[in-house]
Amino acid sequence: MTTPEDQRSTEGMVDYNKNSAMQQQLVNHHAGRIRDLVRRLGPVEPELRPELRPELRIVDYGCGPGQSAIEAVAPAIEAYREKYSDAPIFICHADQPGNDWNSLFELTAGPSGYAAPSIRTGAAVGSFYNQMLADSSVDLGTCFMASHWLSHAVRYDAPGSVWFADLQGKARADMAALARSDWNRFLECRARELRSGGYLLVSCLGAVPDDSEINGFAASGRGVYRAVQIAAREMADEGWIDRTVLDQFVFGVWFMTALEARTPLESDPGLAQAFDIEDISVVPAPKNPLDIYAGFIDDPAEYARLYVGYVRGFGHSTLNAQLFEPGATNGRSAETTATEFYRRLDSLYRRFPGKYAGEIWYLTVVLRKT
Ligand SMILES: C[S@@+](CC[C@H](N)C(=O)[O-])C[C@H]1O[C@@H](n2cnc3c(N)ncnc32)[C@H](O)[C@@H]1O
Repeated sequence: MTTPEDQRSTEGMVDYNKNSAMQQQLVNHHAGRIRDLVRRLGPVEPELRPELRPELRIVDYGCGPGQSAIEAVAPAIEAYREKYSDAPIFICHADQPGNDWNSLFELTAGPSGYAAPSIRTGAAVGSFYNQMLADSSVDLGTCFMASHWLSHAVRYDAPGSVWFADLQGKARADMAALARSDWNRFLECRARELRSGGYLLVSCLGAVPDDSEINGFAASGRGVYRAVQIAAREMADEGWIDRTVLDQFVFGVWFMTALEARTPLESDPGLAQAFDIEDISVVPAPKNPLDIYAGFIDDPAEYARLYVGYVRGFGHSTLNAQLFEPGATNGRSAETTATEFYRRLDSLYRRFPGKYAGEIWYLTVVLRKT
């Protein structure tokens, strides 16, 4: 039997380009900041091997398989080219083994990619909760919409909630401890990989203080996760999903507040020494912060289709491995169970447009390696 620690919190995303408008928006939101960081990096110093032409080394952690992985690095290439028209650049895409690497490398070399004789492309395959690159080998590290996934799948005694923000008691305390230790590990690894004067830009979903919420903060996507919970609970009530499996199922994500992101960078002596903080903030997404598909609310069928696609995009691999496969009842397959689940989710969004809207806050962390 596999334990949650054996499972990744996410296994590759489904139909990524089709369902990732929100992710692409976040990456594009940071294009100006990426350019600015590269300009401030200045020339890359030849260090141990001065006979070699110095190479700008960019790593995009949790790159995913889609166009956003190109858009994450394109502004950096552009800004470096303004100053050094022919200096070599190394772009390293870093993700888990299950990433769709073939799709990604078709894109990097395709018409919307960045391939050029002076640019080397590479991959680092593994977990960003471990060191993925050599010590002091990275000039600019980026990580978009990825670090809110915890280091492994979780299972808690958590009836009534499929996501972290509604957990109570021991389940909440245990998950908060895991999220804290993961964020520490992530930062410690990047502190080793970045060279002095290099920059790290991390941006993902965040949370903000909100006294009306059960745990005192409102987290991105709260309506969406509650819709998922309702559809799954209905299925458990009607014998489609094993209730014990549902009661222990929690998505392995944690959306930090700015304070949670900042705390280890100030209180952990090693991290405080390794990084200067340039920015740690949580802000509403610039477009449609209260409902990512607000523009479609007058067309309930399309509105529902988009939300179902969104949930499938970020959540299907997790739902399938941790809810549909172990929880399918009466000899039904995981696939049949999934089809019924998405049908119910679609129906919720069609019947109640706006009620389970996905609100989005961006957490952004910009650090300079000392
Ligand atoms: C929502 S996608 C984001 C992809 C892309 N950065 C973007 O903004 O569109 C999240 C990505 O993070 C990757 N990921 C999640 N946990 C990871 C880990 N521990 N180590 C490396 N990559 C991870 C997933 O495999 C997935 O490709």
